[in-house]
Amino acid sequence: MRLLPLDRCQPGVILGKSIYHGNGKVLLTKGTKLTNSLIASLKRFHIYTIYIEDEQSEGIEIVESLPEPVLMEAMEVITHGITNIVELNTNHSNFHGMMKSGRVIRSFQKIFRDILVSLKDNPTALNLLATTKIHDNHVYTHSLNVAIYACQLAIENGLPLKSIEDIGLGAMLHDIGKMYISPEILNKPGKLTQDEFHQMKSHCQIGFDILRKVHEIPLTVAHCAFQHHERIDGTGYPRGLQGEEIHKYAKILSVADVFDAVTSHRVYRPALLPHKGLELLYAGVDTQFDRKQVELFKKCIAIYPQGMTVKLNDGKTGIVSNYNFHSAGRPQIRIIKDEEGQEIKPYEIDLAAADYLTVEIIDADPLLYY
Ligand SMILES: [Fe+2]
Repeated sequence: MRLLPLDRCQPGVILGKSIYHGNGKVLLTKGTKLTNSLIASLKRFHIYTIYIEDEQSEGIEIVESLPEPVLMEAMEVITHGITNIVELNTNHSNFHGMMKSGRVIRSFQKIFRDILVSLKDNPTALNLLATTKIHDNHVYTHSLNVAIYACQLAIENGLPLKSIEDIGLGAMLHDIGKMYISPEILNKPGKLTQDEFHQMKSHCQIGFDILRKVHEIPLTVAHCAFQHHERIDGTGYPRGLQGEEIHKYAKILSVADVFDAVTSHRVYRPALLPHKGLELLYAGVDTQFDRKQVELFKKCIAIYPQGMTVKLNDGKTGIVSNYNFHSAGRPQIRIIKDEEGQEIKPYEIDLAAADYLTVEIIDADPLLYY
């Protein structure tokens, strides 16, 4: 199985993984032979890459970071939960509202515990590309992705269970204030005006004000919403906090938040590949992001996800076939083309093995996310 940009898919290719709607329903089942009209409708749904089965990638299995049912349920909980909290906030709380908010928070906690258990049971590098979903609303999918990254990062930090759960809840709700920002601003292609940027920035304060009023939500969770755009050197917002003034949970969240934002496709810009997203985080170490968090994050994520096409410095082309957990930048590669770009009988090399120390990945499929 391998990842392929939809633009390069020819009719007749076999879908390697099912494609889901954001609500958890299957849109196309794996094994489907794609036709011109199916490819066209996937494009209309803003699907940019798919997993396909072909001869060259036979036997490459993509390891799921999280089981599909957990992801789908999490999506549902987040979508309903955020809507409910916003509704309760608008209609002012009463006894009924308090009961309801209690239920909502418990549903968040339950699903987050499922995510936590799955991550602990399956200690592989996170590869959130492994699920092809149609994203109707960025706030919901982004919140789920940030929760998964932040959860793994909290585990890597060796934090106690209660802290991990609070970070998870904070991650799932960190952008709740965006529900009050107009979609025109949220999805605006190009630069925001000063006034629009001012409105955009207000989502942190709005989120904090909503969350701190919910009885069942710890104040540290509300601070995740308040502080996730603060930066180490004080250039963040809304308060321009610096270094140690920023809560540890917010430092974890900001790394997870930025990584997911830049590696996700938006209508106004293409996504960065994971290794480029990581470079961007490293560029901001000590100024924007906490060094320790960026370094721990590198250990959690699949920099070169399985199925991705890569070019090596010896001119050969290959597909990432397996991930080396302790050597993130040096996965196992199935070589499929020689230096001249001619297809060859595929063979495997392990970049983490000493024999190949001089071989490096110099490029990953630049079209993958367009
Ligand atoms: Fe945000």
